Amino acid sequence: MQTKAEQRQRLLGIASDLPLPLHKLQLVVTPAAAPLLPALAVVALLLLLATARHPASSFLDAYRSGVAIVSPSPPTAAGTPRGAAARVPRGCDIFRPGEWVPDDDAPYYTNRTCPLIQEHQNCMKYGRPDTGFMRWRWRPAGCELPRFDAAAFLDAVRDTSMAFVGDSIARNHMQSLMCLLSKVAYPKDISKTTNPEFRTMHYESHNFTVAIFWSPFLVRGYQPDPRRHMWAIHLDEPDAAWAPAGIAGFDRVVLSAANWFTRPAVFYEAGRVVGCHYCLLPGVPDLTHRHSLRMAFRAALRGGDCRRTRPSAANEARVAGLDLDFHTAQVEEFARAKAAAEAASGPRLVLMDTTAAMVLRPDGHPSRYGHWAHENVTLYNDCVHWCLPGPIDAWNEMLLQMLLPDSP
Ligand SMILES: *[C@@H]1O[C@H](CO)[C@@H](O)[C@H](O)[C@H]1NC(C)=O
Ligand SMILES: *[C@@H]1O[C@H](CO)[C@@H](O)[C@H](O)[C@H]1NC(C)=O
Ligand SMILES: *[C@@H]1O[C@H](CO)[C@@H](O)[C@H](O)[C@H]1NC(C)=O
Repeated sequence: MQTKAEQRQRLLGIASDLPLPLHKLQLVVTPAAAPLLPALAVVALLLLLATARHPASSFLDAYRSGVAIVSPSPPTAAGTPRGAAARVPRGCDIFRPGEWVPDDDAPYYTNRTCPLIQEHQNCMKYGRPDTGFMRWRWRPAGCELPRFDAAAFLDAVRDTSMAFVGDSIARNHMQSLMCLLSKVAYPKDISKTTNPEFRTMHYESHNFTVAIFWSPFLVRGYQPDPRRHMWAIHLDEPDAAWAPAGIAGFDRVVLSAANWFTRPAVFYEAGRVVGCHYCLLPGVPDLTHRHSLRMAFRAALRGGDCRRTRPSAANEARVAGLDLDFHTAQVEEFARAKAAAEAASGPRLVLMDTTAAMVLRPDGHPSRYGHWAHENVTLYNDCVHWCLPGPIDAWNEMLLQMLLPDSP
C-alpha cells in the first residue's frame, strides 16, 4: 500500500521520464490516486500588445495522425454575416461557481467533423463507452453562458492575432477552439518551423491568426541531465520560447501553466541556485513548488504593461490542496501584475479563471481512453487533459464572452 506521497513521487518520476515532445504527456495514476489531480487550477490571461506576421508549412499532420478528415473542403466563411453574439447579462460572473446542466444540443463537434483532435484526447476513437460526459453545459450561478458562436468569435477577432502559451493544457484549449471554429472555417498552417509545439495557424477568411508556444514553466526550464528527473527552473527568466520576441506583435496572449511545477526541480535566480522542490540536495532549501509557480508567474507577468478589467470572484470552496495553492498563487500574481499595469496605464489584462467550472468535471478527462486498451503506454490513465469534444470547450465559450466589445 503506497502513501499519497509515495504515489506522487512515483508519478513525478514517470512523468519526468517522458521524452519530448510532450503532447504525449499523461500521468500514470492508479485509480486510487486519480483524485490527486481532479482538475487543473488554470489561469489564463489576455494581454494586449502590438503586431507581426509569418510564412508557411503544414501543421495538421503533426496532430492528426490517424484522424480522417471527413469534410476536406473548409466551410466558406468569407460571406458570413456579422451576427450579434448572445451576451451574458451585465453583472453575471461567468467564472463564479455554478453547475453543469444537461445539454441536448451538445456536443458542438465530433471526431468526424473536427480533424484537429489530437490522438490522446480522441476519447471516442479509443473506445470510451459512455458519451454522457459530452452532454453538459456550464451554467454559472444566476445566469446563462451563451453557447459558443463560431461566426461571432471570428468576427470578434477579425484582423487580430492570439497566442496560446504554456503546457499541453494550453494546447488542449487551442485545439478545442479550432474544433469549435471548424463549423465556420479551417485555418491554414503558416508556421515558421516544423516543431509541432510551435504552430501558427491563419484563418484567411477573417485574417485571424492563432499560435501555440510550448513553455510549460513560462520561465526557462530544462533538464540538465535527461537521464535524471531533476529540472532546472530559472524563476526570473521568462522563457525565450515565447518572450519577448515570440509573442511580440500578438494582439492577445493566453498564458496557461501549472502542472509541470510538481516535478522535482532546482530553482535559480540571477543564475544562482536559490532553492529547490524535492531535490534532496544538501544545503539547498526546499522552497516547494508553490514558490516556483508563484515566482514563474511573477516573472511571466512582470513588465508593468498589463492590466485586467475585472476581478476574479471565483468561490474556491471546492478547490483544495495543491490545486488551491496553485490557483491562489496564480490569482495573486495576476492581481499584482494588474496593479502594476494600471499604475503604468498599460494594456488590458483580463483574468480567465476556469477553475470553478473545471473542478466539477473529473468525468471529462480521457482517463484510460487516450490510447487503445492493449497499447503499452508508459502512462495509462490521463486525468489531466480533456477529451475533445468535452468540458474544455466551455473555455472558449468564456473566451468568446471576454472578446466581445465592452465585455463586462
Ligand atoms: C471516432 O469515434 C468513433 C467512435 O465513436 C470511432 O469508431 C472512430 O474510429 C473515430 N474516428 C476518428 C477519425 O477518430
Ligand atoms: C490582418 O491582421 C493583422 C493582425 O493579425 C493586421 O496587422 C493586418 O493589418 C490585417 N490585415 C488586413 C489586410 O487587414
Ligand atoms: C513496454 O514498453 C517499454 C518501453 O517502450 C518496454 O521497456 C517494455 O518492455 C514494454 N512492455 C511490454 C509488456 O511490452
